[in-house]
Amino acid sequence: MKASLLEKISHAHMPPTLFYRFEYDPEKCTHCMTCYKTCPTSCIQWDEENKRPYATGLNGIELACIGCNNCEAVCPARCIHMRGEYRVLKGRYKTPEEKFGEMAPPMPFGEKDRGRPFEQILGDLTQTEAIIFKRRSVRLYKSKPVPEEYIKRILEAGRFAPSAGNGQPFKFIVVTDREVNRKIDQISAKVLYMIKSLYAKKSRWRKFVVTALSLISANKWDQRPIAAMEKVRQTNGSITFNAPLVIHILKDKRGISKPDIDVGICASNMVMAAQALGLGTCYIGFIASTAPYAPAIKKTLNIQYPYELALSLCVGYPKVSYDNPVSRGPVPVEWIKRN
Ligand SMILES: Cc1cc2nc3c(=O)[nH]c(=O)nc-3n(C[C@H](O)[C@H](O)[C@H](O)COP(=O)(O)O)c2cc1C
Repeated sequence: MKASLLEKISHAHMPPTLFYRFEYDPEKCTHCMTCYKTCPTSCIQWDEENKRPYATGLNGIELACIGCNNCEAVCPARCIHMRGEYRVLKGRYKTPEEKFGEMAPPMPFGEKDRGRPFEQILGDLTQTEAIIFKRRSVRLYKSKPVPEEYIKRILEAGRFAPSAGNGQPFKFIVVTDREVNRKIDQISAKVLYMIKSLYAKKSRWRKFVVTALSLISANKWDQRPIAAMEKVRQTNGSITFNAPLVIHILKDKRGISKPDIDVGICASNMVMAAQALGLGTCYIGFIASTAPYAPAIKKTLNIQYPYELALSLCVGYPKVSYDNPVSRGPVPVEWIKRN
């Protein structure tokens, strides 16, 4: 049921929520710290004294986890699991009461895949499906540069993305200069720190500001990205993870219909092409979402009308393997079949 205005107002800031549960087997752990280094949020931390990872919350957030299961994907010993579910119980960001099913690993062939080893499932798939199920967001890169031929092949995959009316409302800015990436990261991080500070402490005025903003631009004020902003702070503003290549995808504001959708499809083409070339990628929304408040980003990247930054992609060779399958939450599906 849709939340009433009163519920939206009273639970916009830190709504009552059920969180995932962190499970860890110290016997199996190899202390490689990869879970901690690659966690996209501030959830997985490293206890230096006891040489073990632990999961943590963030102010009002009990567990600063977005349920991406990155920690499971990268763990060579498979000693970490995020169980349970994330469920906002009240307010605008409330997750549906109805259960559509449990979190589950890839099951392209349905029930017969339950409990089947992932490698076996992969063996029965097309190459494209294998790329889809094996892709992970990579946040730890080798310093090795991406060959220019590969960069061009990735851009070409983007150029051939479908778009509304074949309008191709894109422009690509390709940055291989790490100093430029670092500069953009730092500018964007400053804006993120300001946003994060609204959630930092329980105070009336912060609560008021978040509530007011959530009424104007609801999608931007969900509590989960805040945990990722805290991670940016803990890694000294490293938004693009020192990747050797960042591709910024700009949308032409005059694009037919909804150019943001075209950008998403274009980015997905590029990500799949990169994965097929043995590269890792990570979608980065933080730079685009902070750019409107940071003119220095536009200036550094020379972004001018009719273009606007819509999404950025980190690309590079992964430093660690992301081979373990992860589970994903269910998505409601309705079939309308002919009798
Ligand atoms: C539009 C979009 C924006 C994203 N922005 C960021 C980002 O700024 N930083 C980051 O670390 N991950 C970002 N991600 C990656 C998501 O966190 C990730 O896709 C999700 O947790 C699922 O994990 P997976 O990609 O490993 O399957 C973004 C993903 C998308 C699609």
